[in-house]
Amino acid sequence: MKIIMLGAPGAGKGTQAKRIAEKYTIPHISTGDIFRANIKNGTELGQKAKQYMDKGELVPDELTCDLVMDRIQQEDCKNGFVLDGFPRTIPQAEALDAALEKIGQKMDYAVDVDVPDENIVNRMGGRRACLSCGATYHVTFNPTKTEDVCDACGAKTVLRDDDKPETVQKRLEVYHAQTQPLIDYYKKQGILKSVDGTQPMDAVFDAIVAILGA
Ligand code: AP5
Ligand code: MG
Ligand code: ZN
Repeated sequence: MKIIMLGAPGAGKGTQAKRIAEKYTIPHISTGDIFRANIKNGTELGQKAKQYMDKGELVPDELTCDLVMDRIQQEDCKNGFVLDGFPRTIPQAEALDAALEKIGQKMDYAVDVDVPDENIVNRMGGRRACLSCGATYHVTFNPTKTEDVCDACGAKTVLRDDDKPETVQKRLEVYHAQTQPLIDYYKKQGILKSVDGTQPMDAVFDAIVAILGA
């Protein structure tokens, strides 16, 4: 099963993609997590990506597309994968379709986690992220067992650099201008499914499972 998670920054793509990956035993591929891991490790890609991410802008397609195309052709993606944060532009979506077409495949579902902008800013301020394993928490809605310590790997959790309110606002603008058009793109392909992302996390997951099948 090959799934794309769509949705505004903070809609809950990562939260749900992790659970989907576990339930259907497919890899969770988050371009944001890949970039953050590269930043943490001080790679050249990380240094380039950080300049854009800190401003709330998109990393250029040429730094993003090849990375994902390589990743989805690895052995563990044979039975499918869940993409989180990619594609984010029409050219990225076209590159993905072209790469899959070459190997006689196509995406199965694009799941849009729908949350209005008003709800987003609140969520982001409370988010805590583990930069070691990519786990995501929320101080109110999904707290860690021990404050600031990742339940999954024991590393310290932090407020992401791009979760400051003014950067969140910029990310929302970028989302509406560059990523939202993908909703129509996948609607036309007949694979778009929408879920109400303002519900509690478990209810959102149940709605997704109802679409994907148990
Ligand atoms: P990325 O890491 O993808 O960030 P994003 O899309 O802005 O999305 P977030 O990770 O902020 O939110 P999410 O939807 O995953 O929500 P989460 O589950 O954490 O990208 C970061 C940057 O990298 C981009 O700005 C760009 O610069 C660059 N980049 C990445 N991919 C790129 C690409 N393809 N092309 C170009 N540039 C790219 O949830 C948010 C919070 O809410 C959490 O605290 C969570 O616990 C809580 N929460 C989740 N669900 C619920 C719920 N139902 N109720 C209450 N709280 C909830
Ligand atoms: Mg995320
Ligand atoms: Zn962790």
